[in-house]
Amino acid sequence: MVAGNRVLIVGGSSGIGFATAKLFVQQGAETTVASHDPAKLDEAVRRIGQGARARQLDIMNDESIVDFFASEGAFSHIVVTAAATETGSIRDLPLKAAYKSMDSKFWGAYRVARSAMFSKNGSLTLVSGFLSHRPDANSVLQGAINSAIEGLVRGLALEFAPVRVNAVSPGIVDTTLYHKLPKAERDQMLRRAADRLPVRRVGEADDVAAAILLLATNPFATGSVLTLDGGGTIA
Ligand SMILES: NC(=O)c1ccc[n+]([C@@H]2O[C@H](COP(=O)([O-])OP(=O)(O)OC[C@H]3O[C@@H](n4cnc5c(N)ncnc54)[C@H](OP(=O)(O)O)[C@@H]3O)[C@@H](O)[C@H]2O)c1
Repeated sequence: MVAGNRVLIVGGSSGIGFATAKLFVQQGAETTVASHDPAKLDEAVRRIGQGARARQLDIMNDESIVDFFASEGAFSHIVVTAAATETGSIRDLPLKAAYKSMDSKFWGAYRVARSAMFSKNGSLTLVSGFLSHRPDANSVLQGAINSAIEGLVRGLALEFAPVRVNAVSPGIVDTTLYHKLPKAERDQMLRRAADRLPVRRVGEADDVAAAILLLATNPFATGSVLTLDGGGTIA
């Protein structure tokens, strides 16, 4: 369905983006993996193998994004998983860190959307997250950012039509996102999260990649936020 299509994964050097890039390549798409760290990018493309190429891009820098699309032109499907955010209670998290988090995940996606060029039957897929509807007292900002992403998706689905715009909202997914936690703490957090879920496991990046492929290719999907959380919302 996407064989031969030009696909861009912004944030494809690790986690959900990496799994998504791998899946699109397996489906025969000409896949560009973009992120900020050139060494991570090269390693990601090497691991994915033939069908993937790397391009450096900084979602915090509008000029970098404008230049990127000026030289690359249009893509059939664009996926944005890139983000670097901090968590903490709003009283403890310094305002500067809070602004930077919003600048990364929300404004980063906004900047990409603003400059993106799409070919016929194109789509844009963003990633929000469970905290928008299952808030956590220690991650209030993260929930607000995810809500903003979901609002952006619903509005852009109208503004960009007939380009389709969607988001996937994952629950806890075991990715490098949690590697800043000490291993023992991380393992315990993931085990506790798994125990609370009807599916009795946390998400894998490949689970979310499959949902992204579905949203990118289903011609009736637009303005949708697909919850993929192992049943966390109903547990
Ligand atoms: N994992 C979860 O449990 C979970 C749950 C709900 C929602 N989400 C959301 O899912 C998305 C992906 O998360 P993940 O778990 O895949 O995280 P991840 O493994 O940390 O991946 C983040 C990606 O963003 C890229 N990135 C960061 N800053 C960038 C910048 N300035 N310019 C370009 N690229 C940049 C990183 O690449 P470089 O380091 O190369 O720049 C990396 O490829 C995030 O929006 C996250 O909030 C994740």
